[in-house]
Amino acid sequence: MPRAPPASVLVPRLVVSVSAAANCSSCCCSPDCDCIWTDWIDVSYPNSSDRNSGDYETFENIQKHNSSWVCAKAENISCRATHFPQIPIGALGQKVQCDVSTGLICNNWEQHIGTAAIIPVCLNYEISVCCVPNVPECIPSTTVSTTTTVPSSTISTVSTPPVSRTAPTPTPSESPSSTATTTMPPSSTTSRTPETVTTVPV
Ligand SMILES: *[C@@H]1O[C@H](CO)[C@@H](O)[C@H](O)[C@H]1NC(C)=O
Ligand SMILES: *[C@@H]1O[C@H](CO)[C@@H](O)[C@H](O)[C@H]1NC(C)=O
Ligand SMILES: *[C@@H]1O[C@H](CO)[C@@H](O)[C@H](O)[C@H]1NC(C)=O
Ligand SMILES: *[C@@H]1O[C@H](CO)[C@@H](O)[C@H](O)[C@H]1NC(C)=O
Repeated sequence: MPRAPPASVLVPRLVVSVSAAANCSSCCCSPDCDCIWTDWIDVSYPNSSDRNSGDYETFENIQKHNSSWVCAKAENISCRATHFPQIPIGALGQKVQCDVSTGLICNNWEQHIGTAAIIPVCLNYEISVCCVPNVPECIPSTTVSTTTTVPSSTISTVSTPPVSRTAPTPTPSESPSSTATTTMPPSSTTSRTPETVTTVPV
């Protein structure tokens, strides 16, 4: 006959798992959505002999030069002249757009002889963009919305001509006959609810 197990085994042990609660890597789900600055990007060079040229470091242009470049959500942008990196672009005397939603645009035809340019053409610029990590948790769904707005003129043509329907006048309730044995359910009257036609002013 087997011996009974030692008494110590039968005593339930109180095991408190501290590590599971303390380890937050398993309970925290939201990633770090702080934007990250790119390297300085310079894909466009102004052609000084073409009045219609300029420097176009736009997101569209950058993507055209590098198909793997993605900036799903740009939160900040920094622009500088390649040969004058320490000078704020506002102090260069050029007309330049440095926009976080489009990138940098400089048109030769908009320039005048200024502080840094000896001929009225754009300097060469480069940009750095602070892009939010391209993960769904960091990109609000509104930015990837593909809803197309239908012009209101097309909507108005779809509307059917308003047909005014006269609601059936309810027959006045007849006085119940004294020998009323038939109980008619009021379904015949309630099933025919008059349609309400809403006319939208064009
Ligand atoms: C926290 O959990 C992760 C994954 O579950 C594991 O790799 C890591 O070793 C744990 N760290 C601690 C301190 O328990
Ligand atoms: C610059 O513009 C001139 C005049 O339009 C053109 O002849 C020349 O090929 C252009 N140079 C470059 C590098 O695009
Ligand atoms: C293209 O963009 C990717 C992603 O930003 C980058 O890692 C790569 O260095 C770029 N390639 C060139 C030629 O600039
Ligand atoms: C953009 O970045 C510059 C330089 O780091 C900073 O001074 C500025 O506050 C930032 N702007 C925004 C809107 O985050």
